[in-house]
Amino acid sequence: MSDQQQSTTPPKSTRRPPPDPKAVATDLYTLNHLHPSIAHNSSILSRTLENSAAQGLPLIYSPRAFAKFLALQAKAINAKHCLEVGTLGGYGSIWLASENPGLKVTTLEFDPHHAEVARDNIATAGLTEQITVHVGPAIETLPTVLSDIDAGKLETFDLVYIDADKGNNWNYFDAAIRGCRKGAVIMVDNVVQGGAIASEDEIWNTQEHVMGARRVIENAGKDERVSATVIQTIGEGSHDGFLYAVVL
Ligand SMILES: C[S@@+](CC[C@H](N)C(=O)[O-])C[C@H]1O[C@@H](n2cnc3c(N)ncnc32)[C@H](O)[C@@H]1O
Repeated sequence: MSDQQQSTTPPKSTRRPPPDPKAVATDLYTLNHLHPSIAHNSSILSRTLENSAAQGLPLIYSPRAFAKFLALQAKAINAKHCLEVGTLGGYGSIWLASENPGLKVTTLEFDPHHAEVARDNIATAGLTEQITVHVGPAIETLPTVLSDIDAGKLETFDLVYIDADKGNNWNYFDAAIRGCRKGAVIMVDNVVQGGAIASEDEIWNTQEHVMGARRVIENAGKDERVSATVIQTIGEGSHDGFLYAVVL
């Protein structure tokens, strides 16, 4: 849920500011009421984050309020099959599957250690029947998933969540549409980057995560297969936002 897939540390002026304490407090207050620790999946979600941290995974999982929003989107559209690009420790997938018992989640992860931890977390959560993790660069694993859809071995995607290497945002978006039913939702995370996408400061033109965000927004705007908007967010995840598209 952040730009930490960069291979090099960004220069100081391109680092995102820390989250606003009032926004973090608001997330805590609302989550404590809307998803308290007694909720049916709270303990498996906490265990997922604890084990992921213990196994050395970076703390770049989707913020809780956003992850629940994703799971509620799946519920609202009665999704049967979701695609996630960028698994990390399986937190987003476990939110999706645990909130939606009939849902199958296909999730793609490049890093073998992340995938191993995710599979471990998924097994601990009792969700192995619902979630399938594919290991490898998503640009290579996504076509095999699409072939399985074409062959009728998998249902079409109802919901797609793109949250991996930002430079490939558009490539994943463009490819995933092929596997989507009409009315499917595609969400691309981290496309606002503290407002950097709209900045004229040339420093951003060298940043892959900003250029990847601009490319998916600009291309989606010209693409007659979808209608899309960007929603800015704030809270545990600092000032960012996601692209929300519906396949026409
Ligand atoms: C921000 S994390 C994903 C967080 C996750 N969606 C969640 O809800 O907690 C991004 C993940 O994308 C993975 N990733 C980076 N490049 C990738 C690629 N080319 N193909 C697949 N996964 C990739 C990273 O290894 C990392 O685990």
